[in-house]
Amino acid sequence: MARLSLDVNGCFGPGGLSPQDLADVAPIAREAFDGFEVRRRSGEVGFADLPRDAAAAEAAVRLARELSGRFENLLVLGIGGSSLGGRALVAALCHPFHNLLPRERRGAMRVFFPDNSDPATFEALLGTLDLAETCFATVTKSGGTAETMAQHLALRERCLARFGEEGYRERCVLVTDPVAGALRRIAEAERLRALPIPPGVGGRFSALTAVGLLPAAAAGVDVPGLLEGAAEMETRCRSREARENPALLLASVLHLLDVRRHRNIHVLMPYADGLREAGDWFVQLWAESLGKASDVGPTPFRAVGATDQHSSLQLMMEGPHDKVVVLVRVAQPRADVSMQVPDAYRAHAEIAYLHGHTMGELLEAERSATEAALRQAGRPTASIEIPRLDARSVGELFMLLELATAYAGGLYQVNAFDQPGVEAGKRYAQALLGRPGLEKAREELAARPPPDPALVLR
Ligand code: PA5
Repeated sequence: MARLSLDVNGCFGPGGLSPQDLADVAPIAREAFDGFEVRRRSGEVGFADLPRDAAAAEAAVRLARELSGRFENLLVLGIGGSSLGGRALVAALCHPFHNLLPRERRGAMRVFFPDNSDPATFEALLGTLDLAETCFATVTKSGGTAETMAQHLALRERCLARFGEEGYRERCVLVTDPVAGALRRIAEAERLRALPIPPGVGGRFSALTAVGLLPAAAAGVDVPGLLEGAAEMETRCRSREARENPALLLASVLHLLDVRRHRNIHVLMPYADGLREAGDWFVQLWAESLGKASDVGPTPFRAVGATDQHSSLQLMMEGPHDKVVVLVRVAQPRADVSMQVPDAYRAHAEIAYLHGHTMGELLEAERSATEAALRQAGRPTASIEIPRLDARSVGELFMLLELATAYAGGLYQVNAFDQPGVEAGKRYAQALLGRPGLEKAREELAARPPPDPALVLR
């Protein structure tokens, strides 16, 4: 069976690495692998074992089926890692206009990810959907994230006012830590259905827990296929040798290009609209996991081919030599979108050559040409190819990038599984909103020097 392939040839040669670089990093790569395995075996880090947790997946699918039998819309209230993974799975694996299709064509629920706490978006969404047909999943690992809980409280109040306690309970499900956090206590007090996020799985690594699987199943994604692909990739990544382990190879070349060639901007550029959100998910995964310890951390960037050929590609091609572009190719585009370009405008040579080709061929020519041009310009590239945009391939891709992130943590010698910088911002926001116990943070905020009026233009 065709499977994901990774080609890092474009990372070597002029402007890139030498085989000696890869040989030099091999001992550190082995240590990164071993370090991850120790944390994994101790149960501290659990994401790599999720594809084999059939019971947890089945619970998410069962709940999705139940909701789907009763409601038309699912709102996923969550932010960061509690939103991006599910959103990326739905975007990659459902019809591009899934939520616009009639139920008979969709065959599953409409799924919305408001994500941000911008009241304009949230209010507009609530004003657009029929609340009687809507249920919501509140997703937060810590169980108390301000943005998520504000949305939860707003929806809870509306549901209670309109449908009473029973109606609220029918409409609300929770995804949170199995033991800790305010939301777990709320689940018990309000007798709400709640799925667990395993303790060893942090937000940005939780796409294959109920965090991602519940919305994916509600939108009709093939969850067993997704997990099968992820499990296969996990199996392929059991070697300590980068040349035998795709995730370790990807982490090693990206790390080397950063620390030895100053290529510290890592671009993920899928040639598939369906993977646009997967790019956003990767940006969070790479940035929040590796941006640590003051001066450590590559900057991830998401581009989409061919759109970004008319935008940021100019910068990648001729700007500073600080980028690596990881192109993602989908070998076989979905048959229903391969559209032959009609025969017209024969007199115009600059258009006529398109005749007889499909739009898929055009996109593939753009990808292959961009890769060649980047190489020609001495810009390193790597290439990930998946056979098609289906659950199995996306499962492989997600596990590849998650494992690469975990190994990159070892290579950069940072803890890829915490996010102290994010926590500091959360603390200040809560202090500004008057949360008790954060008096010190409020004092710190008050002690900031006043802004220089000369630097403020009104
Ligand atoms: O990856 C992470 O840990 C973060 O991005 C979190 O997912 C995000 O801050 C939301 O946290 P929580 O799930 O606790 O609401």
